[in-house]
Amino acid sequence: MDTRYAWLEEEWRQMEQEATTRRLQAVESCGEEQGKWIRVEGRRLLNLSSNNYLGLAHDQRIVEAGTRAARRWGAGSTASRLVIGNYALYEELEQELAAWKKRDGALVFANGYQANTGVISALIGRGDVVFSDRWNHASIVDGIILSRAKHIRYRHNDLNHLEELLSQHEHVQRKWIITDSIFSMDGDMARLTSLVMLKERFGAMLMVDEAHAGGVRAEEGQGLCHEVCVAEKIDVLMGTFSKAFGVYGAYVCADQEIIRYLTAKARSHIYSTALPPAVIGSVLEALSLVRTETWRRRAVKRNAILFRQMLREHGFMVGDGDTPIIPLMIGENELALRYSTMLIERGISAVAIRPPTVPAGSARIRFTVMATHTHAELKWAADQLAAIRAELMHADSGHVDQRVLEQSEEV
Ligand SMILES: Cc1ncc(COP(=O)(O)O)c(C=O)c1O
Repeated sequence: MDTRYAWLEEEWRQMEQEATTRRLQAVESCGEEQGKWIRVEGRRLLNLSSNNYLGLAHDQRIVEAGTRAARRWGAGSTASRLVIGNYALYEELEQELAAWKKRDGALVFANGYQANTGVISALIGRGDVVFSDRWNHASIVDGIILSRAKHIRYRHNDLNHLEELLSQHEHVQRKWIITDSIFSMDGDMARLTSLVMLKERFGAMLMVDEAHAGGVRAEEGQGLCHEVCVAEKIDVLMGTFSKAFGVYGAYVCADQEIIRYLTAKARSHIYSTALPPAVIGSVLEALSLVRTETWRRRAVKRNAILFRQMLREHGFMVGDGDTPIIPLMIGENELALRYSTMLIERGISAVAIRPPTVPAGSARIRFTVMATHTHAELKWAADQLAAIRAELMHADSGHVDQRVLEQSEEV
């Protein structure tokens, strides 16, 4: 064996012991019934794993719009937007975004990861302090690390803790609070109104990541900040096109001074080729559908409430809520993997989420519902889950059930 990589072997073995290894599985087809059914390794599975909340990823109007844009503008944008990649299409999208969010301006990024790392590391620097919810997405964490600012993580949604930390740093000139609006692995919501009050009291700035709320919350899908009427008080509103929009890419909306500065300073914007025209063409069409097809928003909310109810009727402890992300807390990594494998065997795709994505001891199955799931499909999935639990109980003389129920109470 090649000994140069012995350290990697060692670490891999350790990961195997902790059940944290991951491998890629090829999705062989995904277009059936607008992405509700996928085929993986020869099996047809009900898709309860995607972020395609509104069921738009396979909408032919969006696909066609992308095709038209590619025909007109080409397959690639050939350079960074600051060089010659800034096709008129991008400006059109940014104007539409600013109008949708009712903000001065918008800037599009290649994806949410690059938006968060680019925006945070450009606006925040050494000497600043960032207060970040402990459950924020990894791209926010990485952006803060890149910024070299002091990074303070407050307990999840614990605003007393945040207030205490802010009081300890009153003397710091530039303070930022950053939060997801809907948390990606738990599906719960940030307390935005109280965060705005704290920001104002302590003279801090507030950035909100709407990746999982864009398209699914507020009248025209602008996100949770608009739903709770605090959008104009948020310094930086970030969102993605990769989830409810069913496409790819991301954006920030803010005051003109911020957008102008980011255009010149955000490294992920400057040093990376602009998104392909097809993506922008598709996003423009998706934005129009997100704004107008309100039945999708109503349907995904209804399904989110319904699936939680169905799980509860089977005795599973799932948290309250109406967001499409529904975690079933399991606890141990291996057990979460077992559930996920058994779900696949029964025709359901629902992934096990394990550390480091979530804290140690909080492995879970992350279910996500779509606007297009039917009552019958969700009921069938909940029944399958209950059957799996019964099977595991039988094999494990009752311990499994107890664990699932107890751990779930922490959601
Ligand atoms: C809260 C949050 N922010 C940012 C991202 C990154 O977005 P993208 O997948 O477009 O890179 C994600 C997605 O995974 C997310 O859940």
